[in-house]
Amino acid sequence: MDDLEQLVERAEREFGAAPTPAELENAKARFLGKAGSVTELLKQLAALTPEQKKTRGAQINQTKQRIESALLARRQALADAELDAQLRAEALDVTLPGRRRGGGGLHPVSRTMERIEAIFASMGFEVADGPEIETDWMSFTALNNPENHPARSMQDTFYVDLKDEGGRWLNLRPHTSPMQVRHARAHAARYKGCDPMPDIRVIAPGRTYRVDSDATHSPMFHQCEGLWIGQNVSFKDLKVVFTQFCRLFFESDDLQLRFRPSFFPFTEPSAEIDIAFGSGPLRGRWLEVSGSGQVHPNVVRNFGLDPERYIGFAFGMGAERLAMLRYGVDDMRLFFEGDQRFLAQFN
Ligand code: PHE
Repeated sequence: MDDLEQLVERAEREFGAAPTPAELENAKARFLGKAGSVTELLKQLAALTPEQKKTRGAQINQTKQRIESALLARRQALADAELDAQLRAEALDVTLPGRRRGGGGLHPVSRTMERIEAIFASMGFEVADGPEIETDWMSFTALNNPENHPARSMQDTFYVDLKDEGGRWLNLRPHTSPMQVRHARAHAARYKGCDPMPDIRVIAPGRTYRVDSDATHSPMFHQCEGLWIGQNVSFKDLKVVFTQFCRLFFESDDLQLRFRPSFFPFTEPSAEIDIAFGSGPLRGRWLEVSGSGQVHPNVVRNFGLDPERYIGFAFGMGAERLAMLRYGVDDMRLFFEGDQRFLAQFN
């Protein structure tokens, strides 16, 4: 084999061994560059006779062309391989099942709250919202709680490490009843000079907090407060409104309600409201769902209203309690553990 043939073979071998385009260009320089083998061969032509130059020159040119076409072939092969790899990396398997976005849903307690709001809204109640960190006055004093009432104690109420203007610790509201005071005072201010003042008819759903934790109590829970104050609002109206609410909420016409005498500092008289289902697994058992009563005159005064002219009722019910009864859940803690298997059942 002559030297030119060997050169072509070497070039083919080295080009073939170059794994990347960059290394291929280095290999190219060794053969076709300024100091490359082919260039060296061409330089040697100077020493030959014109006759020899002609044949040798033509042979070298042929050699050069063969090396160039080997280079082009290898360049193309590397480019093809790169494209193949890219296509493989970006391959789309259209037979794979689609990735679905997780189906979110409302928490059962949120559903319950929305249901409560919709029913009371249909009965002409406004829906009010207020702070969860409360002053001592709003949570207790304005609601006619005596200074030494047990609800004020550290065992029952969470306190925040901050004081109000009067130097009293702020609390995480232990019930939604402070919203009676906040809403009624805002209403009285808004309708100042309006005689008679339009009725206050409001519910206030929201989070509440107590130092309490077992199967039926959670340190954070939800209540919904209700308040109706006017010139002629009686216990009878409470019975009608609450009975209607329960029938709509539980979608049951054979529910019974019982108003069991009780005590709250902010209502007089006061009652616990119990319900009994006419059918289903809980049939015939009395179940407590809400505290209630006629708003105490001292509280009406703290609303900024004359208790001789304005009278009405309030109630405060536990939303988890209602959710448990409606959905047949027997442990309140399930609502707050965040277990998807439990929560997904409600959507
Ligand atoms: N705030 C009371 C509680 O948390 C419930 C209640 C509200 C009672 C309104 C009477 C009137 O237990």
